[in-house]
Amino acid sequence: MLAFSRVSAGFDGVPVLHDISFEVPEGETVALFGHNGAGKTTLLRCAVGDVSDITGHVSYRQEAIAPGAVFRNTRRGIGFVPQGHNVFRDLTVRQNLTIAGLHQGDAQVEDIYRQFPILHERSGQPAGSLSGGQQQILALGMALMTRPSILLLDEPSTGLAPIIVRDVMNSLARINKETGTTVVIVEQNVPATLAIASRALVLKAGRLVFDGSARALERKESLWALF
Ligand SMILES: Nc1ncnc2c1ncn2[C@@H]1O[C@H](COP(=O)(O)OP(=O)(O)OP(=O)(O)O)[C@@H](O)[C@H]1O
Ligand SMILES: [Mg+2]
Repeated sequence: MLAFSRVSAGFDGVPVLHDISFEVPEGETVALFGHNGAGKTTLLRCAVGDVSDITGHVSYRQEAIAPGAVFRNTRRGIGFVPQGHNVFRDLTVRQNLTIAGLHQGDAQVEDIYRQFPILHERSGQPAGSLSGGQQQILALGMALMTRPSILLLDEPSTGLAPIIVRDVMNSLARINKETGTTVVIVEQNVPATLAIASRALVLKAGRLVFDGSARALERKESLWALF
């Protein structure tokens, strides 16, 4: 379980998140919504200890997520897919996967190829020559190389055609179902994300204004005014 307890955070003394508390149980798919600048990326960064100006408590599987110790925190099974296509453009698809996997062997690369055949097809091609959607799939594959128990994704559908968005969402739903990986997904594309999420959180100006089932959010007309 990922747990935030009374977390406030900011940058250089400027507050961004205010008194955030929520829990993500194992195996759940949770969507995190909010307008631009609401603090979604900051919240994900807090989950891996990447924000040093923080009060309150963040923990994963009952152990504290220490601010500043990003590498050590992520080694505890947290996969992070940052905003934007974070791939090494000049390296091949296979090299990107191998680097992301640290010391995982070829078997793990083959497992990713089984899940995403397009990456197998493009294995020897520079990542920069892939389409935006393919690069996003590669970024997801890279995060999966270390076999995380929880995946944090920051706007994975940005800039993708609707059909590709559906592919990405379907991949996430499949990973969640097949391996029980917990998924926390930040998105602007609310309908596509609610299709795979069981729960939703909504941030407004750094405060959590909704924490409930995805179905309840769909029904709650007044909340749409937040977006
Ligand atoms: N490194 C930083 N230094 C200073 N301020 C920052 C930093 N990162 C984010 N902020 C500020 O914190 C606020 C929240 O930013 P954040 O990136 O978390 O929002 P977001 O909800 O992810 O927005 P978007 O939907 O545009 O990605 C913004 O006002 C932003 O300017
Ligand atoms: Mg963001």
